[in-house]
Amino acid sequence: MDGTYRDNDISHVVEADRVNVWHHLLQHKPFETGEPRIIVEGKGMRVWDQNGKEHLDAVSGGVWTVNVGYGRESIANAVRDQLIKINYFAGTAGSIPGALFAERLLKKMPGLDRLYYCNSGSEANEKAFKMIRQIAHKRYGGKKHKILYRERDYHGTTISCLSAGGQDERNAQYGPYTPGFVRVPHCLEYRAQWDVTGEEYGKMAADAIEQVILAEGPDTVGGLCLEPVTAGGGVITPPLGYWDRVQEICKKYDILLHIDEVVCGLGRTGTWFGYQHYGIKPDMVTMAKGVASGYAAIACLATSEEVFAMFKDDASDPMNYFRDISTFGGCTAGPAAALENMRIIEDEGLLDNTVAMGARMVENLNALAEKHAVIGDVRGKGLFCGAELVSDRTTKDPMDEKKVQAVVADCMQQGVVIGATNRSIPGFNNTLCFSPALIATADDIDAITDAVDQALGRVFG
Ligand SMILES: Cc1ncc(COP(=O)(O)O)c(C=O)c1O
Repeated sequence: MDGTYRDNDISHVVEADRVNVWHHLLQHKPFETGEPRIIVEGKGMRVWDQNGKEHLDAVSGGVWTVNVGYGRESIANAVRDQLIKINYFAGTAGSIPGALFAERLLKKMPGLDRLYYCNSGSEANEKAFKMIRQIAHKRYGGKKHKILYRERDYHGTTISCLSAGGQDERNAQYGPYTPGFVRVPHCLEYRAQWDVTGEEYGKMAADAIEQVILAEGPDTVGGLCLEPVTAGGGVITPPLGYWDRVQEICKKYDILLHIDEVVCGLGRTGTWFGYQHYGIKPDMVTMAKGVASGYAAIACLATSEEVFAMFKDDASDPMNYFRDISTFGGCTAGPAAALENMRIIEDEGLLDNTVAMGARMVENLNALAEKHAVIGDVRGKGLFCGAELVSDRTTKDPMDEKKVQAVVADCMQQGVVIGATNRSIPGFNNTLCFSPALIATADDIDAITDAVDQALGRVFG
């Protein structure tokens, strides 16, 4: 810390926060006697709190966002310069960084040709849902309007995103939901729902989607929305054979494939996007968190030319365009930050680093599994890893959520911030989550897994 905050200043800040701010995702009763955490400063992989305590951040800002690490002056400068030149104009007009970022990004996404700007992952997903609904109205008399989503996936916090949310604890108490969203089974082989393994399992999990389509009526289903690797639902890497079959099914029934890359987008799994590991060709891709690493709010929806063309095929029809706006989709800070964020990922070789450091993290976690019987399963793709904790390896009974949280709290005590699935899947909030910045070094990875080793030792004896 640079000492900018004197003791009495920061204690005022803590009090101002405690009595005024409604924090995300937290119960506030404990703040009646205790202090909220204020993060004051960050540099690289580390952040400092109000007490000057240093933390190694293994979750990129808590929710897998700060992919290029903290304290990037070049991004701050790019945003500053852009804001002085022109900070905003509605997205009915273009902007210099908006045009240039779209061009650079789409070059990395063969088969996707248009970029729509907005400002949160939820909003980007809503745009995709709206496009699917509008296509249903334009082409199919409104009939092909249903959108399939998967158990355990999460697509955002608005009511329609929750309607597409496969995490029942997260959804609870927010109904009634938007009609026309239909659930398909998850694909986590460790929690197998079919008595086959490997590639057969992947095909079976995808076939389960086809069964839902047939039950609903293929002429009523317009879209399928999936995370490439399920994030908050337990870091679920898909089984072999899954994606090929999913793509086949979408083609067979003329269903648009929408991949939610809000977490995997821009490098997290070691490729620009998670779907690029699996050789599939989505019709729509949404992204947000890692697009500008949290230096400015930005989210995008990329679509194929075929999807775009459906909104301009009859210029004489005054309703024949995407009648949608996002006020802050016109902020120029987002694409200005995103351009510099992308340059950093390229110039510093962060995709390669992600692959190498991700492999090290999985190796370290597997070594911990040899030592700690509570680790039932280790999963990961790039710097996006999870360790599922169980109370019994043979029965795979999930570990009690409170104990999982005790591991997270112990790591926090040690100055290492890790994550865990929480209040998401009833009875299955038992996966530790790791998503350090893509700049992580071997020492950082070892420090993270050493902290987990000690925490597991203390919590489970
Ligand atoms: C996969 C996925 N999609 C969408 C969202 C929603 O993004 P936002 O919080 O920016 O609305 C999230 C947020 O965690 C997410 O994990």
